Amino acid sequence: MSLDRRLPRYVIIAFVFLLALFFLGPFGSASPSSAGRPPPPRSHPSVRFKPSSSDWWTTVKQHHPVPLAHKLPPATRNLLHTVQHDFSGYRDDPVTEQRRKAVRAAFVKSWGSYKKHAWLWDELAPVSGGGKTTFGGWAATMVDALDTLWIMGLYDDFYDAAAAAAQLDWANTTETSVNLFETTIRHLGGLLGAYDLSGEPALLEKAKELGNMLYLAFDTPNRMPGFWLNFENAKQGLQVAGTNDPSAAPCSLSLEFTRLSQLTGDAKFYDAISRVTDFLERSQNSSRLPGMWPKLINFQAEDVRHESGFALGALADSLYEYLPKMAALLGGQYPRYERMYRTAMDVVKAHMLLRPMLPEDEASHTDILFAGDVYVDQKNAIERKPEGQHLSCFTGGMFGLGGKLFDIVPHVGIGERLARGCSWAYDAFPTGLMPEIFGIVACPSIDKACAWNEEQWQTQGDKHLKKGFSNARDPRYILRPEAIESIFLLYRMTGKEDLRDIAWRMFESVMRSTETELANSAIEDVTVEGIPTRTDSMESFWLAETLKYYYLIFSPPGLISLDEFVLNTEAHPLRRPK
Ligand SMILES: *[C@@H]1O[C@H](CO)[C@@H](O)[C@H](O)[C@H]1NC(C)=O
Ligand SMILES: *[C@@H]1O[C@H](CO)[C@@H](O)[C@H](O)[C@H]1NC(C)=O
Repeated sequence: MSLDRRLPRYVIIAFVFLLALFFLGPFGSASPSSAGRPPPPRSHPSVRFKPSSSDWWTTVKQHHPVPLAHKLPPATRNLLHTVQHDFSGYRDDPVTEQRRKAVRAAFVKSWGSYKKHAWLWDELAPVSGGGKTTFGGWAATMVDALDTLWIMGLYDDFYDAAAAAAQLDWANTTETSVNLFETTIRHLGGLLGAYDLSGEPALLEKAKELGNMLYLAFDTPNRMPGFWLNFENAKQGLQVAGTNDPSAAPCSLSLEFTRLSQLTGDAKFYDAISRVTDFLERSQNSSRLPGMWPKLINFQAEDVRHESGFALGALADSLYEYLPKMAALLGGQYPRYERMYRTAMDVVKAHMLLRPMLPEDEASHTDILFAGDVYVDQKNAIERKPEGQHLSCFTGGMFGLGGKLFDIVPHVGIGERLARGCSWAYDAFPTGLMPEIFGIVACPSIDKACAWNEEQWQTQGDKHLKKGFSNARDPRYILRPEAIESIFLLYRMTGKEDLRDIAWRMFESVMRSTETELANSAIEDVTVEGIPTRTDSMESFWLAETLKYYYLIFSPPGLISLDEFVLNTEAHPLRRPK
């Protein structure tokens, strides 16, 4: 970190301030008594809250008002089991420290280029060097990276970014609609995570402003939000829920809205998302695959019978992820999240998990799983689609978390096999990276390795790929986090050191294939030898999630302990009750 070079007096002030930060901050004392509550409010002089140029959303009439019907449980009780492995006696070692520094250097490089070439834009173009507007023009990368800056100890940059975030103007956008899901997980989650770490009051104020704007999206006849919050429709009372929306979109806003209610004391946010949870509970057993919800849902008719596709990957993913995470944020005080998680995971275990068919020498020591898709026709015939996705790699961490929180020991084992499956798939391609979507030749059952079947391989397999794969249907790697996310979470849950070596191998592969002069870029094809073509894209999750997980796995396990924090689906840490 750099100190002010101009005046020695400032050097002293800065030094005292940083010392105070160190001793008071969550990373210095890691005092367990602070869990559930943010650190004491601490206002940095450069961070000044500036209200948006208009707050029309607070005065617009609710056309479909409802009374508050859901009460938040006290934020001071936790009835759940410990998540983290007992790391007592943990010592940092030089190799781990080197690795941590390499990850931090990658972050500093990408962040530096964002500041220089794309400051306040949503994204940096990591090859050509410009800025892009992808999520409403409210500096998505900057907001998303706030808490990573804090975690990595880059406090000067943190306060520069926090000062800019405190001035964001939600009323000033050229868009006519906002993407409710993306804005909630990236912007609202980013501000709340940064507030929960730093205690900087202006960040909570900004989050509250945004929360009030996004709250409008729930003003539909059945209080189910649409995919887009369209400003004009909201003003005129014309909003309706979607008839064919991704199930994850309305159904994974719960962590952010709940945390906002916990921190502001305003229960309306929690009430709004609890109505979506009520719907999930009502409908869980009425789909074609009872226990799971389809990828696409008619939220307007609240109908889950029509759609045939079920998955843990794209479209549905974080709906399931948020069930154990909501239990964690509420201290397990409302059992319905655990109930829904258990019911859904029983179905996942029965129908969705896949074990690849591997040659004998490999099968004997490779016990891995993937999460595939399932289709159910009108006569309830179930057809598995043996396809893996980078997006579904989060399932390892989800099973691990559910297993730990609710003390379901076999789930932690399933989680580890899923996490190891994704790292195995990284190793299977010449770049050391996994494709976005790929087919696998699957065993009939996940319980034991199946014998190699040459005929099945000849008909289903792709001879250009490693044995076990049938295609690399979408061969891109777009800097996604889900594989390292699960490896990190399982490391914190099991303490198995080899997961760190796996993480390092993955990190080296990511850097080798994606690093550009400025930063890191998505690539076109992980199946090629040599350096793949870069597609000039660096989504904000590279700094918010991917590099955060790589940094945390090489950090002492008390940094963002999973017993003090729950991470939203964009890796923003929200404080849990003690
Ligand atoms: C809105 O943003 C644009 C571009 O960032 C800026 O030029 C303009 O002054 C802003 N308008 C208001 C009312 O702040
Ligand atoms: C759904 O079915 C499962 C398994 O039969 C049962 O345990 C669960 O309580 C049911 N859920 C609801 C909300 O009725």
